[in-house]
Amino acid sequence: MTVIKTRLVCEIILILGLTQLICGHHVYNVGDYHNWNPHVDYKAWVAGKTFYPGDVLEFKFVEGLNVKQVTAKDFEACKAENAILEDHSGKTAIPLNKTGNYYFICSLYDYCHMGMKLNVTVN
Ligand SMILES: *[C@@H]1O[C@H](CO)[C@@H](O)[C@H](O)[C@H]1NC(C)=O
Ligand SMILES: *[C@@H]1O[C@H](CO)[C@@H](O)[C@H](O)[C@H]1NC(C)=O
Repeated sequence: MTVIKTRLVCEIILILGLTQLICGHHVYNVGDYHNWNPHVDYKAWVAGKTFYPGDVLEFKFVEGLNVKQVTAKDFEACKAENAILEDHSGKTAIPLNKTGNYYFICSLYDYCHMGMKLNVTVN
């Protein structure tokens, strides 16, 4: 009951846009100590995590790599030409503003096909 009430209060606060102040948001370092790199199992990294609107994904990576947000279709095909947003700086924080799926890939070499891709569902 308390949990349900808390969720409800947080949802109302979310609508008001005050979630980060009152409910707190979680900043995830994608890949934890592996950061954003080839040869990391991001499916395993996502497993067991529950993401909510207001949470933030922080991508950290070395120079030369990149992170690109793409559509579901492009995620499956590892295509980055129509990226929704992208970063090459080595460190970027992407807010998960809304519920739904967010797809990220690295477009360098064959890294996406090798598993450098992340599918996050925001509840
Ligand atoms: C992304 O993950 C969600 C939740 O597991 C799944 O329902 C969806 O089909 C996945 N999308 C793709 C393109 O793999
Ligand atoms: C989230 O909202 C911020 C501020 O409105 C915006 O700059 C950013 O592009 C949005 N991010 C996504 C992933 O939609």
